[in-house]
Amino acid sequence: MAAPMMTQFLSVIFCLLIPVLCDKYKPIEIELQSEINGEPARIFTADEIRKYDGSDPKKPLYMGVRGVVFDVSDGKGFYGKGSEYNALVGKDATRAVAIWSLEPQDLVPDVNDLPDFKLKMLDETFQETYMKKYPVIGYMDYLVEHKQFVKTANYKENTRSLENKDDRNSDKTEHKLHKESLQSDKQNDSLDTVRKASDEVFKNTPQTVLAEHEEL
Ligand code: HEM
Repeated sequence: MAAPMMTQFLSVIFCLLIPVLCDKYKPIEIELQSEINGEPARIFTADEIRKYDGSDPKKPLYMGVRGVVFDVSDGKGFYGKGSEYNALVGKDATRAVAIWSLEPQDLVPDVNDLPDFKLKMLDETFQETYMKKYPVIGYMDYLVEHKQFVKTANYKENTRSLENKDDRNSDKTEHKLHKESLQSDKQNDSLDTVRKASDEVFKNTPQTVLAEHEEL
């Protein structure tokens, strides 16, 4: 009689433990914004973000964490040329941030093989350091490939302010491209379309505006 009771007892304990043991950490969901502070979100390839590694003092310092690109220029003391964490900028160094390493092989986005507690620590740093301290300016192409853009809450307001600007400047091309990149459902369908719209906007933006943007 005691043996079946023990078996039953152990089965109950086992059933209670399974969900706890198998409860895998779910990384924080990242929502892509098609527009950030009134500007179309910028999409970076590994080659493009490399320009912002601090080797040109006139350029801002950009760093990718979990595919989100932050302007970390305010942390120049950490990330500027010759500074302790300079190796982390000009790239998506998600893995390095997750495991606190500055080894060259860890300066990559890949974290697939990391245990849950490292992924949790990564998310904590992502939120508590990067999201809190530094402005987001865009996304790495690999993140955009897997996700879709969402319209920002102030989407309508931003579109309206662009219309006014265009009325004043009679610069219909920029407005048309902004609208296309924001409104076209097709834009959400593929990275190629998103990149084309983004490239066109930059191509058609007066050089002075681009220069100001670079200075920021
Ligand atoms: C013995 C080793 C280390 C020590 C003593 C150390 C110490 C520090 C200190 C004191 C801060 C500043 C915290 C603050 O003022 O908010 C900091 C920030 C930071 N450390 Fe380290 N660190 C070490 C190793 C590393 C390694 C290996 C990495 C590799 C990823 C790393 C990445 C960072 C990052 C990303 C920040 C945040 C910078 C920011 O706020 O933008 N640290 N560390």
